[in-house]
Amino acid sequence: MKQTILITGGAGFIGSHVVRLFVEKYPDTQIVNLDKLTYAGNLENLSDVDQKPNYTFVKGDIVDRQFVQDLFEKYQFDGVIHLAAESHVDRSITNPIAFVETNILGTVNLLHAARQVWDGKMEGKRFYHVSTDEVYGTLGATGLFTEETSYDPRSPYSASKASSDHLARAYYHTYDLPVVISNCSNNYGSHQFPEKLIPLCINNIKAGKALPIYGDGKYTRDWLWVNDHATAIDTIYQNGVLGETYNIGGHNEWKNLDLVHLLCDVMDEELGKPQGTSRELITFVKDRQGHDRRYAIDSSKIARELGWEPSVTFQEGLRASVKWYLENEGWLDNVTSGAYQKYYETQYKD
Ligand code: NAD
Ligand code: DAU
Repeated sequence: MKQTILITGGAGFIGSHVVRLFVEKYPDTQIVNLDKLTYAGNLENLSDVDQKPNYTFVKGDIVDRQFVQDLFEKYQFDGVIHLAAESHVDRSITNPIAFVETNILGTVNLLHAARQVWDGKMEGKRFYHVSTDEVYGTLGATGLFTEETSYDPRSPYSASKASSDHLARAYYHTYDLPVVISNCSNNYGSHQFPEKLIPLCINNIKAGKALPIYGDGKYTRDWLWVNDHATAIDTIYQNGVLGETYNIGGHNEWKNLDLVHLLCDVMDEELGKPQGTSRELITFVKDRQGHDRRYAIDSSKIARELGWEPSVTFQEGLRASVKWYLENEGWLDNVTSGAYQKYYETQYKD
């Protein structure tokens, strides 16, 4: 193998797409997937690539500093793509401590180990920290987040991600660690845990359950197909300039209620139900605390400097995603059994 790359959080939603892309595209590169397998991590997500000779899975916790240090010493990684995180805003409101531990302490443990093991041999190395547009806070009706927008995180999740971004930049400036960062908008696609809006609604439509819309439903997000995020990550890992940040987005803003209307219509078509059937399930529920009104990304820098653009329209990506969830009922059933039911009852009790 020419290189060894550590991908953290590779059993999760985005991580599994990144692992698949790298394992298949770079057969001469050893991919080590480090994942704690929390409720969000699922090795079934990688069943199509886990037998490849250039893939290794390691179960472990990035919060365990000695374990992380030992792992870096054992594998002598050439690069790191760091995705492991607690990722759901609602869970961060219920249990912020887990977010501080994994997202902040876990990130600094990885940065620290990379610095120790790469000391005096940083040439050719790369530490890629994957982050979110939520660090920029919330927008009014107009305007876009650029790479120069000041940080203004407003949830425990986004505050913990902002802190991890600051630490990654600090390691670049203070220790010359070869860091690159990206901040991406909302992802959708296959293998997403159904706590997030789109797979949650798909799962509920299948079961004939209410579709919970927080507040007035006019909160706005910019949606990107997860496969396109994975190609952006590949592009930045290979060609991004060290010390730089790249915003990634889909030029694709939707108010939540409009998005759920579209999703209902696609589901009705795919399930062969009369149009309007699923829309009847829409139910307005109590708003999320501190709910950010609007996110929208200016991704012109990555387009201009690295030549990356999304490859599909939202209509194409959404239909492909809906088909995947309908064709993979076993996956959905497995991840919604057990602990998911308890989470759902608690989260949506009012
Ligand atoms: P996810 O919740 O689906 O997956 C997270 C993965 O990290 C899981 O496999 C989990 O087991 C693992 N993990 C959690 N804690 C760990 C720990 N302490 N040690 C090792 N592994 C641990 O998350 P996702 O949606 O795939 O997001 C991945 C990354 O991308 C996160 O850093 C997130 O902030 C960022 N991001 C997500 C989105 C999005 O829309 N989902 C958008 C922009 C950025
Ligand atoms: O912007 C990037 C971020 O996108 C990522 O960093 C996060 O990891 C990811 O979870 C996502 O955060 P959001 O909070 O935007 O995603 P979520 O799917 O939870 O919610 C999308 C919108 O839908 C948001 O305005 C809240 C709303 N919503 C969500 C759920 C789960 C509802 O109205 N009802 C719901 O039941």
